[in-house]
Amino acid sequence: MVKKYIIKKGKEYWPSPEMKKIAWIKDEKIYAKANKNPVKFWEELALEGITWEKKWDKAYVEKLPYFEWFKGGKLNFSVNCLDRHLKEFGDKVALIWIPEPTGEKVVKFTYKQLHKKVCKFANVLKGNGVKKGDVVSIYLPMIPEALISMLACTRIGAIHSVVFSAFSAEALKARIEDGKAKVLVTSDGYYRKGEKEDLLSKAEQAAKGTTIKKIIVVNRINKEHKYINYKKEMEKASASCVPEIMNSEDMMFILYTSGTTGKPKGVIHDTGGYAVYAYWTAKWNFNLQEDDVFWCTADVGWITGHTYSFYAPLLNHSTTLVYEGGPDFPDLGRWWKIIQENKVSVLYTAPTAIRMFMRANGKFIKKYDLNSLKILGSVGEPIDKEAWMWYFNEIGKKRCPIIDTWWQTETGGTLINSLPGIGPFVPTVAGKSFPGINHIIIDKNGKEIKEKNKIGFLVQTSPFAPGMLHGVYKNEKKYIETYWRFKKYYDSSDGAFYTDDNLIRITGRTDDVMKVAGHLLSTAELENAINEHVNINECAVVPIPDKIKGEVPIAFAILKRGEGSWALEKEIKSFIDKKIGPTARPAKTYFVKALPKTRSGKIMRRILKALLVGEEPKGLSTLLNPKSVDEIKKMIGDSKKI
Ligand code: WTA
Repeated sequence: MVKKYIIKKGKEYWPSPEMKKIAWIKDEKIYAKANKNPVKFWEELALEGITWEKKWDKAYVEKLPYFEWFKGGKLNFSVNCLDRHLKEFGDKVALIWIPEPTGEKVVKFTYKQLHKKVCKFANVLKGNGVKKGDVVSIYLPMIPEALISMLACTRIGAIHSVVFSAFSAEALKARIEDGKAKVLVTSDGYYRKGEKEDLLSKAEQAAKGTTIKKIIVVNRINKEHKYINYKKEMEKASASCVPEIMNSEDMMFILYTSGTTGKPKGVIHDTGGYAVYAYWTAKWNFNLQEDDVFWCTADVGWITGHTYSFYAPLLNHSTTLVYEGGPDFPDLGRWWKIIQENKVSVLYTAPTAIRMFMRANGKFIKKYDLNSLKILGSVGEPIDKEAWMWYFNEIGKKRCPIIDTWWQTETGGTLINSLPGIGPFVPTVAGKSFPGINHIIIDKNGKEIKEKNKIGFLVQTSPFAPGMLHGVYKNEKKYIETYWRFKKYYDSSDGAFYTDDNLIRITGRTDDVMKVAGHLLSTAELENAINEHVNINECAVVPIPDKIKGEVPIAFAILKRGEGSWALEKEIKSFIDKKIGPTARPAKTYFVKALPKTRSGKIMRRILKALLVGEEPKGLSTLLNPKSVDEIKKMIGDSKKI
């Protein structure tokens, strides 16, 4: 019998008796209980969920803007993902890996097999000079070796810094330089939409002239190279590696994220707090059970990939599925075929993917059996009602709750969403803060807004979640400026309001950061990159809504000389591909004579945005050059006629 996990009551969806039966958390009282003493609540969860070599002396120490969890506690992260499961779950499948080429075999790793690989690679890293506290750069596609390298780092106390494989050589270089990594783990390439993509040339170019001393290359597309061969090293390596015992507050990884200035920030995550938080959020949000197959479609280049494609399912001795390739290869049925063949029970993906499938219409889904699905998740950007309903109806077949999880790179794990056994599941509404975590909505003066339906800044209150960042790598000023302008609250830079039912609805970023196909991009980073083009004198970038990608960047550029052309617009696109990566490509570039500026010289992006979306721009009287607005308005109007 096909199980139904939700029921409709009034306008909303709630957990069905079937869901209540299996849910870890079904009693709403948990919120009040956790709130009574959040530190105690997390202490209990930390003891139950994670294996410690030594218990902490103090569960929570706060001296803002810094705070630490489980101080004095000792553990090893890879032991928590692997070793501790070996006795009972050693032969259980930890990872199902689906290569993109349809003729290639699916690879499954049991916990035992994965453990062996991780120990071996940990020894390979050691053999290549990596020591506790060193930074290792990982530039890999969605292949098992990405997970193996990351876990190997955590085994020996090295700090990993994963860089998205679609990022350019320059973007990788900047991240290598910031972290001063000595070793780079990469692959010769990968498969994407049926093509062999080269990765090694980018890696090579990026490493040149940096601190990188060794490049270890995983063979994926059989390209010749002169670097250290992953496979050969693994053959030689011993499969026994004593784990390095780390302090709970020790840095485990750095992950770069876009901010409001040009340079990406290295967000620091610790070991113990992150482990506790990843474990419990995955267990409760997705109600992980013994025979579940969990599929988070996020690439490991992003935090969602770190926490939910890889780490959290393993901490829970669950089975995680990883797919190498594009969602439309060989056709749009691929994901649904994967779900059917592997009996996926939880699908966690992004609205941009859902919108893509939705636009292509449902034919490619119909032939697959999706009845193994139990819970659907959404992450990365606000999900609009149409996409929510489509996901709910076509993928969940009106049987599965949608868990719309709001969180950030900085928070390590999910923060606001409805729990599957509690609900409600309301389109566009994220829900409540996770038990033991608190958010409030404030105005620009820091005053709490309690009224319903009034937008304000979404901030987190003390005690801060165990998975939260521990600073910005070698940049304290950036950390304080970005997250602590309200002093006692963590500033998320997102807007939100309370619905009539007192649930939180996220309205989107309040800073100069945009979300393109779920990827965070900073306006300034993109502008800086365009400005480096020889023909460009100055530019401004603003995001506009896009039906599939959520938002896309539009550039306004002033040329040093001459006229703009199609050719130059194309050239800027490939220039950005090189500088940042294809995600950041401007959808359109307008070559303008002047940009609207205030008397103090600040570019008024707000006015550009209004013009793009066809609204009447406000505040023109304060401009230094109001005429520029007419010119741009005409240009936008003309381009729409074409
Ligand atoms: C946005 C991704 C609405 C938000 C985990 C946040 C969301 C930014 C949601 C962080 C959601 C993420 N609803 N907005 N469910 N999830 N966001 O660092 O603006 O890549 O600040 O982390 O994505 O993006 P990041």
